[in-house]
Parts: sequence; C-alpha cells; structure tokens
Amino acid sequence: MSKYPKINYIGNKNKLTDWIVNNFPYKKGTVLDLFCGGCSVSYALKEKGYKVFSNDALYSNYVLAKSIIENNNVFLESKDFEIEVSKKETLNKYKEIKFLENRLYFPYEVEELANLVCKSEKLQDYKKYLFLSLIRRAMIRKIPYSRMNVPWNQIVKLRDEDYSYEKYKRRRAYHNLPFIDHINDNLSNYNNAVFNNGKENQAFNRDAFKMIEKLDENVDIIYMDPPYPATMNKYGDFYGLYDSIFKRKINYINFSENNKFLENLEKLIIKCLYKTKYIVISENNKTKPSIDEISSMLSKYGKVEIKEKKHQYKVTNKENKNETIEVLIILQVKENK
Ligand SMILES: C[S@@+](CC[C@H](N)C(=O)[O-])C[C@H]1O[C@@H](n2cnc3c(N)ncnc32)[C@H](O)[C@@H]1O
Repeated sequence: MSKYPKINYIGNKNKLTDWIVNNFPYKKGTVLDLFCGGCSVSYALKEKGYKVFSNDALYSNYVLAKSIIENNNVFLESKDFEIEVSKKETLNKYKEIKFLENRLYFPYEVEELANLVCKSEKLQDYKKYLFLSLIRRAMIRKIPYSRMNVPWNQIVKLRDEDYSYEKYKRRRAYHNLPFIDHINDNLSNYNNAVFNNGKENQAFNRDAFKMIEKLDENVDIIYMDPPYPATMNKYGDFYGLYDSIFKRKINYINFSENNKFLENLEKLIIKCLYKTKYIVISENNKTKPSIDEISSMLSKYGKVEIKEKKHQYKVTNKENKNETIEVLIILQVKENK
C-alpha cells in the first residue's frame, strides 16, 4: 500500500490531514492546494480520490509534488542513477554550487552533491523528480534542525558526534553520512509513495497570485495553508538554498511581511472568487490575525463556517501542551460575485 514518505517539513499538517480532508464540503472533485509545502494535504486528497493541483513558490516543494502527487506510476531504481558523470562535469557544477561550502556542508560534501546534481540532470521526467526529492531529503537529513538557515558554527558543533552526545545524549551520526547513503536509505520509502488515483493531478511552482491568474480550469475547492506572521514562517530561508542550486528561485509575495497578511489574503481571496466554489483556510487559535478577523473579512464574500479541533503540536515547553485549537475556516463563495 502507498504511504506518504518521510519529508520532514516545518509547519506541516501531516497529523491533521484526515480531519482536514474529512471536513471538506465535497467528497470528490478538484482541489487546488495553493501553498502545498511538503504536500501532506495534497497527498491525503490524492488518496481520497480527488483530482489535485499542488502549488508552492519553492522549487524544493515542486519536486515533491511532481514525484508523489502528479506522478502516478513511475518508480526509481538504483540502477537509474548509476550514471557516469565526468570529472569535468562534476568540477564545473562544484564551482557553481560552491556557495554551500562552509555554509551548509564541508567542501568534500559539496563535491559529492555536485556529482549527484549532475546525475539528476541526466535523468528524465518523473525519475528525475524522484531523484531530486531524494537529494532534497538527503540534504535536509545532513543538517542539524533540518533547516538551511542554521549558522555554520552551530552546524559544525552539532555535527561533532561527541559534543552532541555529551550535550544532548544523541550522536546524530546521520548528519555525517554521505548523501548517497541517505538517498539509498529513502529510495523504497519514496517509491512506496507513488500511486495512481486515476486522476490527472498536476504540480505547479508559482506565486499564489500568479497561480490563480493562470489557472485555466475552475476548481471545486481552493485549500490555503499560508505562512502566518510570527510563526516559523521563513520558508525561503529554511529551504531556498536548494532552489539556488538548481537556479529555480522565483519571486513571490511574502505574506507574513509588515503586518500586511490580512490585506494580502483579501486580495488573494478576491482573485479566487471567480475560480472556485469553496475556499478552505487552515489556521489555529495561536496565530495572528485572529480567526474572527479572518472570518469577518471572508464573510463579505459568502457564507463562512468554522471547524475546530484540539491539537497538540510538538512542543518542548510542557505548559503549552493541549492548548492549540486547529481551525478550518470554510467560505462558500457567493453565487453573484
Ligand atoms: C505552512 S506551509 C504549508 C505546509 C503544508 N500544508 C504541509 O502540510 O506541508 C506554507 C507554504 O507556503 C509557501 N509560500 C509562501 N509564500 C507563497 C506564495 N506567495 N506563493 C506560493 N507559495 C508560498 C511556502 O513555501 C510554504 O511551503
């Protein structure tokens, strides 16, 4: 049976996908997951038989959506990436991605990564995207805290297995394994995530506004899980260096900037009105703007319904336990817009 793979995405909805999807106003149809991130909601929608469009501004998320949402039947075998890459090709790529040196990885590791990137360029279609997803996975596994904006001196410290053991009682030896070991370790896990739900699902790598403008067929539901202000929301910093390796950085609206969230969200909602029957937004009672503020803005455009569920996010501070209420704000768009 197919299974959502190990992705490790900050702010993911992995543990909430059943609840989210079960509260959708339609049990079938087309859903656009506009801020798909690690694709956990897209994947659950695909499993339930919806036709899924997955979009995210980051290329590192697009490669995931290509591999496990759009891809219905292509698998990757280790012989697929036993491709010859010349020393010269690797060296040229190494020069291109040298900016990672002593920033995310040690020089000999950047060289290995350069070789793998060259291999990815020789693969075709979904095999290529599966391999790119595995490169992403390997890159994340090798970085302490699984994000790319940890300062280099911290990375060096935490990758010292003796230090890590002394301080945290964990050696974290996996940070020091070669990329290829992580790729091989995760290969079957990613292949197991590939399945066919009989629909033509599609992946997109666009700014949310552009995505709506360019959407050429209307959908039944647009699902939004945007980066909220004052949360762990710096996705460009967490994963953007991956996009830089492949020169696939795009410009996109920063939702969480300068208290403009509500204004940006309203602009986006207005664009969506002509393209969908429902808009479903994920939020929780800890984020700003508040659920009331978002609901009252939305109520200008149709009927609003709220669903709530107590949820325990992974927290280190014990007092915070059980305090979060996860919310779905569901807008049924007015007929006469
Ligand atoms: C909270 S995360 C989504 C998590 C996702 N639901 C999951 O379960 O993994 C928000 C996502 O919005 C993306 N994003 C931020 N600004 C965007 C924009 N203007 N257009 C498209 N995507 C954007 C980020 O790259 C990030 O992946």
